[in-house]
Amino acid sequence: MAPQVVSFMNMKGGVGKTTLAVNVAYALAHVHSKKILVVDGDPQFNATQYLLEDEAYLEHVNDEKKGTIRDIFVPRRPGKINTVKGLAKPTNRSKMALTDCSVSVYNPGQNRGKLDLIPSTLQLMDIETSSRSTEQKLANYLKEKANGYDYVIIDCPPTISIFTQAAILASDKYLVPIKPDPLSVLGLPLLERWLADYTEDAGIEVEQLGLVFSMVRGPMPQAMREVMDELRAARQDTVFAEHLSVSTHVARSVQSHEPIFIYKRNSKPADQILKITGEFLKRTE
Ligand SMILES: Nc1ncnc2c1ncn2[C@@H]1O[C@H](COP(=O)(O)OP(=O)(O)OP(=O)(O)O)[C@@H](O)[C@H]1O
Ligand SMILES: [Mg+2]
Repeated sequence: MAPQVVSFMNMKGGVGKTTLAVNVAYALAHVHSKKILVVDGDPQFNATQYLLEDEAYLEHVNDEKKGTIRDIFVPRRPGKINTVKGLAKPTNRSKMALTDCSVSVYNPGQNRGKLDLIPSTLQLMDIETSSRSTEQKLANYLKEKANGYDYVIIDCPPTISIFTQAAILASDKYLVPIKPDPLSVLGLPLLERWLADYTEDAGIEVEQLGLVFSMVRGPMPQAMREVMDELRAARQDTVFAEHLSVSTHVARSVQSHEPIFIYKRNSKPADQILKITGEFLKRTE
């Protein structure tokens, strides 16, 4: 079975995209026994840092046989390896197994869920100016290799770049984490306009799964409340009923590389994440 591919996307930076993507993905695997692949599509690799301890990450990227999302976009450089006939050929991307480009984050076995991660790397930066077909490569790779997962969750950077284009070309749906302040909300029509144009040019349809209010402060300032009410009134069902509050527990869960519902099981944000994940399932099933 082909997985459903969902991108978490917003052009605005620091609105909680990565935090939401990682926590929803983990809850799908841990609580709902789904098979999940998280793709870190951001050169800043925040999702990777959230899900992996530094040592595990370094071990993975320092292993010659292991890859990152970079290897999906560009073939391996020959490096310093010399053969009798000259430089070794670059590794063919499509020959690299998914198990080599991913890390197992959660896998309790016995028909339970699992969570794998295709990690990112700062070195992704240098492919920005690559050839035109590069943005199609993630879609091709996932189509070929991601069978068997229930969901692929792609964490996108806050820019319109080759990485957001690649994510959209690979996605069935997209979810917009949104911070309810007047300036952040301004970015929404821009994102939607860009997506409409880009998907029309590409000849594909990518459906909006919904908006999730994130980083909601409590007690809620008046302006925030107004933005939320207005957006709910204008968009009705597209806005998820549950939101994610700002909480120091969330910030600390990032530091400890654990999802909030494991780091602090009985807390408001843990509860919120589980509700958001339930809604995510309803909207995709
Ligand atoms: N609900 C929350 N409560 C407290 N801190 C949060 C919460 N959500 C996110 N943060 C913190 O805010 C910062 C930005 O969050 P996050 O990285 O999820 O945003 P982003 O939209 O992915 O950012 P970028 O645009 O840089 O990719 C991080 O330091 C994160 O730990
Ligand atoms: Mg992010």
